[in-house]
Amino acid sequence: MAQFWKPGTEKPRLIDDEEGGVLFLSASASSSSSGYGFASFEKQRQRLPVYKYRTAFLYLVETHATTIVVGETGSGKTTQIPQYLKEAGWADGGRVIACTQPRRLAVQAVASRVAEEMGVKLGEEVGYTIRFEDATSTGTLIKFLTDGVLLREMMGDPLLTKYSVIMVDEAHERSISTDILLGLLKKIQRRRPELRLIISSATIEAKSMSAFFQTRRRRGLQGEEPALAMEPAILSVEGRGFNVQIHYVEDPVSDYIQAAVSTVLLIHDKEPFGDILVFLTGQDDIETAVKLLTEEARDNRKSSSGLIVLPLYSGLSRAEQELIFSPTPRGKRKVVISTNIAETSLTLEGIVYVIDSGFSKQKFYNPISDIENLVVAPISKASARQRAGRAGRVRPGKCYRLYTEEYFVNEMAAEGIPEIQRSNLVSCVIQLKALGIDNILGFDWPASPSPESMIRALEVLYSLGVLDDDAKLTAPLGFQVAEIPLDPMISKMILSSDQLGCSEEILTIAAVLSIQSIWVSSRGIQKELDEAKLRFAAAEGDHVTFLNVYKGFLQSGKSSQWCHRNYINYHAMKKVVDIREQLRRIAQRLGVTLKSCDNDILVVRKAVAMGFFANACRLEPFSHEGMYKTVRTSQEVYIHPSSVLFRVNPKWVVYHSIVSTDRQYMRNVATIEPSWLREVAPHFYRQDGPDAMLH
Ligand code: CDP
Ligand code: MG
Repeated sequence: MAQFWKPGTEKPRLIDDEEGGVLFLSASASSSSSGYGFASFEKQRQRLPVYKYRTAFLYLVETHATTIVVGETGSGKTTQIPQYLKEAGWADGGRVIACTQPRRLAVQAVASRVAEEMGVKLGEEVGYTIRFEDATSTGTLIKFLTDGVLLREMMGDPLLTKYSVIMVDEAHERSISTDILLGLLKKIQRRRPELRLIISSATIEAKSMSAFFQTRRRRGLQGEEPALAMEPAILSVEGRGFNVQIHYVEDPVSDYIQAAVSTVLLIHDKEPFGDILVFLTGQDDIETAVKLLTEEARDNRKSSSGLIVLPLYSGLSRAEQELIFSPTPRGKRKVVISTNIAETSLTLEGIVYVIDSGFSKQKFYNPISDIENLVVAPISKASARQRAGRAGRVRPGKCYRLYTEEYFVNEMAAEGIPEIQRSNLVSCVIQLKALGIDNILGFDWPASPSPESMIRALEVLYSLGVLDDDAKLTAPLGFQVAEIPLDPMISKMILSSDQLGCSEEILTIAAVLSIQSIWVSSRGIQKELDEAKLRFAAAEGDHVTFLNVYKGFLQSGKSSQWCHRNYINYHAMKKVVDIREQLRRIAQRLGVTLKSCDNDILVVRKAVAMGFFANACRLEPFSHEGMYKTVRTSQEVYIHPSSVLFRVNPKWVVYHSIVSTDRQYMRNVATIEPSWLREVAPHFYRQDGPDAMLH
């Protein structure tokens, strides 16, 4: 086992230095160890690398419209900068400091940390907002929110007037909402010269970001204020990052989950104490690894005694999140098995060993096939370096890469591709349209999306009836769809349910489609889960099945035991109830009449088709394997094993989303009648088009 690993030859150098910015500040990188231990919050705060830059930072913000802060993960950017701003008076006079994050879980985690550091109750001076959850009050001074939520806020307040400073954090992730936000903030800045922007990130090419925010110099207002530098300032926070020794596998591994588990046990057996962070890709493989390690603990107590194994992925409950951040008890070793959320968004203290699978789940969109799917794909070198860096927080660490050095050097891409260039743009286009931005191709993007993707999005929005011939939002439908914080196809489904008289049912379906899954994870209990599903399964597909589950849940009095017996995820169901309630309020506000169709399932199916017609598929006539082709682009797709229609294979279906593993699988599938397609989307399914097979 020990020969499995070979030390890397590259000299550890984990953070790319930034040079040549407008201002390059540096301090001796000798800052002491982190807040690991029992020091007071105040002491812990002063030990963070950003603390040395506090005065310089506040000066830059005072004098520059935009300040770019680059600093290693864990240096205190997210938790400290908003507090510095507040201490310096940026939240005085009813103004608010905003800090955006691409990930919901990170929003909650950092907000609760900052509230704790400030000794205030979360939701008061320090609050957060994520979609469907608002923990702020009128007294909130520092507000953490997802970049998506801030975009939504612009619909009501286009200039974001309540904020004095907006910090766009984790900008290096280049999430689609971050990119849209950056483009819009640049516009807002021209109208609101007093607004301050902070762009912060772990590894950004600060120069290109700076070039993006370069604007014409502006005079001070009537000599009252000194001229504000419109050229962005760059502050580079030098971290302390201890040395991290990199190890590679000798030969490529075939099963990275198994390899990760073996490596955890090997480290536990051979290496001194210190926590382990494992990067896998998603909830499924994380739970598999947790299970394998837990089984190991049961079967072989010696090799795993003292291990505390914890999963980390979005969708964890608050209690589960807290375990992740609580200090490891003496004599124990924590193993956190995470998605790439722990790559830069969250910092865990005490990590000394990192195991990097080399993969993450990524969105990919192909405008030719018009399919967006979530695939397990190789990470970039930049990500691999970030991951390794997580091992050097408290003392010199080790990183075990489950790929060969040759692969790292020769095959890994240097940087990831911005999400906007690998996403379906339907939601993005509708949001920009709602903000009055008509020339979307001409919009000032940090990275331009492809014209093909843009055209596809316009096509879908046009056929949904959301855009008119001039590509303007239609009234009222287009504006209503834009107002609902969901995928436009789901929003259209909700609005269509009004005329069909089944809004109560459709709101339930929409709520379920907004969460990952209502079933417990299937690992190791596939048979039991399948049997449980049969109790609710409807021949019409997953959507109607969801209605049966929801009804059962209500009838049980929202009982957790009932969920447990039926292999249903109780927390997911509680979320469904909560989201449904919020959607119900939004729908009512938009004038949708709340009405149940009393088991007239046909109208429910029609409403689903009215939202999802663009995702229609037909079973290949002679396929023995259940192969479908998408009607519009003839892509091969299959029903996902988690669907109640798996192996049932009805002739015509619509799907909600696609995931790719060995094949492209449709998740959440409903049966439809082909005649509905032309009825609900005549432009989309033309008589003479490639979809003439509808005949
Ligand atoms: O944003 P950046 O990566 O630069 O650092 P940060 O998230 O502000 O973290 C600064 C310090 O706060 C780190 O030592 C974290 O371990 C700690 N922290 C924590 O203990 N609990 C949290 N929920 C968030 C941060
Ligand atoms: Mg951060």
